[in-house]
Amino acid sequence: MAIDPQFDENRDVVDEHEGHDVWGPVDEPERLGVHGTHVAVDFDICLADGACLEDCPVDVFEWVDTPDHPESEIKADPANEAQCIDCMLCVDVCPVDAIDVDASRSA
Ligand code: F3S
Ligand code: F3S
Ligand code: ZN
Repeated sequence: MAIDPQFDENRDVVDEHEGHDVWGPVDEPERLGVHGTHVAVDFDICLADGACLEDCPVDVFEWVDTPDHPESEIKADPANEAQCIDCMLCVDVCPVDAIDVDASRSA
């Protein structure tokens, strides 16, 4: 299952993390929601492949620990989403389609 590209219409902001929004529902540690707005990562789909961290030319992503999440115990957090230049590499390389980037969604 890929990230819902309409997450901003179908989910509500329930929290803030490192300066970006968290879109629920969140029920830790199993359910973590979507982190970010312009660059959005569905933490419940991310399985810590790491290609997004390796390939992003402007280092938007940083690892965060998510102990006891069923998919993986670290996630790619869009910690620097304001730096995104919309190259779309992360969207292309993520093997599980956990990332959505939309220039019309401002952070
Ligand atoms: Fe980086 Fe993805 Fe933006 S690779 S520049 S966060 S579109
Ligand atoms: Fe996760 Fe996909 Fe990046 S699985 S670490 S969002 S390439
Ligand atoms: Zn986050």
